[in-house]
Amino acid sequence: MLNFKKKLAVSISEKILSAFSVEVSADEIGEMFEFPPEPHMGDVAFPSFKLSRTLRRSPQQIAEAIADGLAVEGAERVEVVSGYVNIFISSEYTVTSMLGNMLALGDDFGRLTEGEGKTMCIDYSSPNMAKRFHIGHLGTTAIGNSIKRIHEFSGYKCVGINHLGDWGTQYGRLAVAYSRWGSREEVERLGVKELERIYQKFYIEAEKDPSLNDEARAAFTKMENGDEELLAIWRWFKEISLKEFMKTYDLLGVSFESYDGESFYNDKMDAVVKEIDEKGILVESEGAKIVPLEDYKMPPCIILKSDGSTIYATRDITAALYRKKTYNFDKCIYVTDAGQSLHFAQFFKVIGLMGYDWEDQLVHVPYGKVSIGGQKLATRAGNAVLLEDLFGEAIKRVRAVIEEKNPDCEDKDEIARKVGVGAVIFNQLSAGRIKDINFIWEEALNFDGNTGPYVQYTYVRACSVLEKTPMPEVEMATEIGEDEKEMIKTLSLFPIRVRQALCEYEPSVISRYMLDVCHAFNRFYHNCPIIKADDSTKALRLSICRGVKSVLGNALWLIGMEKTERI
Ligand code: ARG
Repeated sequence: MLNFKKKLAVSISEKILSAFSVEVSADEIGEMFEFPPEPHMGDVAFPSFKLSRTLRRSPQQIAEAIADGLAVEGAERVEVVSGYVNIFISSEYTVTSMLGNMLALGDDFGRLTEGEGKTMCIDYSSPNMAKRFHIGHLGTTAIGNSIKRIHEFSGYKCVGINHLGDWGTQYGRLAVAYSRWGSREEVERLGVKELERIYQKFYIEAEKDPSLNDEARAAFTKMENGDEELLAIWRWFKEISLKEFMKTYDLLGVSFESYDGESFYNDKMDAVVKEIDEKGILVESEGAKIVPLEDYKMPPCIILKSDGSTIYATRDITAALYRKKTYNFDKCIYVTDAGQSLHFAQFFKVIGLMGYDWEDQLVHVPYGKVSIGGQKLATRAGNAVLLEDLFGEAIKRVRAVIEEKNPDCEDKDEIARKVGVGAVIFNQLSAGRIKDINFIWEEALNFDGNTGPYVQYTYVRACSVLEKTPMPEVEMATEIGEDEKEMIKTLSLFPIRVRQALCEYEPSVISRYMLDVCHAFNRFYHNCPIIKADDSTKALRLSICRGVKSVLGNALWLIGMEKTERI
């Protein structure tokens, strides 16, 4: 479809030039195409109204001028319907060119060259230590992982960075909490759960005795000044936290090239603060040092607090400079919830004001807030659903289904893990990322309808047909019916969808596309018998199944789901 689209765009651009003497590039035209959901509306449609402003003509006039004598290889018929030019692709072209191209590329079909020679950094997951993973962390981890894979598939060299939250006054609080209510044995026995308990206790106690807060601040200052005893405990907490995080990352199949957290920048910030000052943008305000941003309609970015300590933003500015120097990225992406949008806008602007021309290579990719049953998510309120529990439950339920439907299945545990975890990931990534998510257990674990297990199941179906049926050694048929054509067309949209997901930083483009592939496949599978078909038709249909296997297999990977060839 990509090739057809390109040729069509060139022809339309030429038509416009000759009919209206206006130049609209083929690339611009290419961005405007639509792929109608109904076969009678054509295989590709050009919405002429998108040009009526530029050309000062009615959509109908433009459409008619374009359609008049339009000839593109593979186009069988062109119709003008209410301002749209609908183009119908011939069966012959669909099979020999579109399916043929797909089969020739095999598992490389859909890969882009957009990112060749380019490097991207992606900062995602980045949890704060001493807290267990809860569903609030799932968004950044799953979205980040998928965006990273989409870039990799598009040719980028990718550097995944886990910017661990391992520095800040909260670790002064944790140190105080540990010295008062903690014990080595309990922390060793219960890990992060125990750290969470004493941390929560700190808040309860500090309500009654606010001097605890001063004590915590003092402890953190000591840490900043290199107090070995406190730092040893802090390092130990960090190790415990990382070990726990790794369990979730392993389950999700997520990995990072760098685990340089916030504390990594401790010895690098002085130089950066000095640089900001030298650039003449640092201003003193009520004892603190800030970069005013009112010209950009934002509150100031605080660089040093009045007690001279650095904050989150100071570390982020330092990290961005370090990453640019270390990786020489072409873009650096940050995936966090939308609540942090202002923070990113502020520090990106500071980088620009420092005179760096790569401010616009910094990209914040926000996602919606997660609430639980309509309530705000808060560890302290104790309503956070732990990822461990969510995955555990999903795996358990999938296992029960396999047990019931396929009791002889050999690796039930392995398959239940893949399908269960995949179900949670798919659920997270199926709606646009910016949409707020209200987490409801029953919905997250509903496996009917348009869900992860449905996609996995369709993939298994395609694999098992291919495994059971040998490919006849004959030319494949080029005469195709409606369902076969729909199937090939849907598959051929894969590179277009990958590109859209890449440009919009939007994994849901892929998950929604996977559902289109599954719906088309299930119709095709139901209406087009394979085993009983004559050899050339069988060859065609099996080739289609190959396409489905490769596209769905790659799409599953792009979303971060593990595949299984059997259920
Ligand atoms: N640790 C932060 C949090 O849990 C997210 C960090 C995101 N990355 C960054 N470079 N600021 O909210």
